[in-house]
Amino acid sequence: MTIELPRTALVGVGSMSGAVLDGLLAAGLSPDTVVVTTKSESSAAAHRERGLDAHASDTDADANRAAVRGAALVVLGVKPFAIGDVLDEIAGDLEPGAVVVSVAVGVTTSAMEARIPDTVRVVRALPNTPIGVGHGVTGISGGASADAEAVALASSLFDVSGSVIEVPEDELDALSAVSGSGPAYVFLFVEEWQRAAESLGFTPEQAETMVQGTVRGAVELLERSGKEPSELRRAVTSPKGTTERAVAVLQEADLADTLRRAADAAIARAEELSKL
Ligand SMILES: NC(=O)c1ccc[n+]([C@@H]2O[C@H](COP(=O)([O-])OP(=O)(O)OC[C@H]3O[C@@H](n4cnc5c(N)ncnc54)[C@H](OP(=O)(O)O)[C@@H]3O)[C@@H](O)[C@H]2O)c1
Repeated sequence: MTIELPRTALVGVGSMSGAVLDGLLAAGLSPDTVVVTTKSESSAAAHRERGLDAHASDTDADANRAAVRGAALVVLGVKPFAIGDVLDEIAGDLEPGAVVVSVAVGVTTSAMEARIPDTVRVVRALPNTPIGVGHGVTGISGGASADAEAVALASSLFDVSGSVIEVPEDELDALSAVSGSGPAYVFLFVEEWQRAAESLGFTPEQAETMVQGTVRGAVELLERSGKEPSELRRAVTSPKGTTERAVAVLQEADLADTLRRAADAAIARAEELSKL
């Protein structure tokens, strides 16, 4: 699959939007389609070294405005606190009909729309970090200004690097509490499981091989078999066997309730942050 996009400006290309860009380039996007901006000259120089048209706002005060002129798609990859200033800066240079996609956590489409002309369409996206290895899960929500075409164009940035789920904007915090924060839940589970394996007398290397190898294998089996997780679990759980005893202990921990409470805590924090 080779991806084609209209002329695209990435304003701020750090870890998150940089991973999105890497996915697009890996999917065959022509580097000529893209112009990127950063704050520092050293970051811009690093992007130029890989053949991209890159400009730094520190050394070229017009860098962001020039990047968005003629761009049908603009991706904002700056930190949430910088979104307002960047939008104020580029508002007069955005093309009518352009689609602005922000990956900033917690900045609503209505807050962005208030700073730019009505003709510009705004979409919010919430990728998670595995997008950097081509297996992201991205939640996407169009603002009041965004039509289906704008949402589809925004989705095409992320679906080359994993799955995209479109949700109403008021569900983005909940989505974030599942797939956005989710990689941390999985890493915690792996950490604790490795610790438990070490306490049985295995070396850290052996524990890593057993736990991470099992996680990889189980996920692959889940994906390739097309079966439900409960069915695969029952297949390793012989009646009156050892796994049955172990699973009974895990079920005492009421994992569904624990995960639900974790998600509720993340959602409550997102609400607090949106009021700051
Ligand atoms: N990291 C995550 O897990 C995650 C997940 C979902 C969403 N997000 C969102 O992704 C966004 C970026 O986070 P990040 O972790 O990728 O940040 P980051 O690595 O610090 O990247 C920010 C980028 O913006 C550039 N920049 C800053 N001010 C600029 C300006 N005035 N004009 C042009 N470029 C400017 C920086 O340039 P320099 O390189 O020169 O500093 C850098 O390239 C945030 O809004 C965050 O909410 C992050």
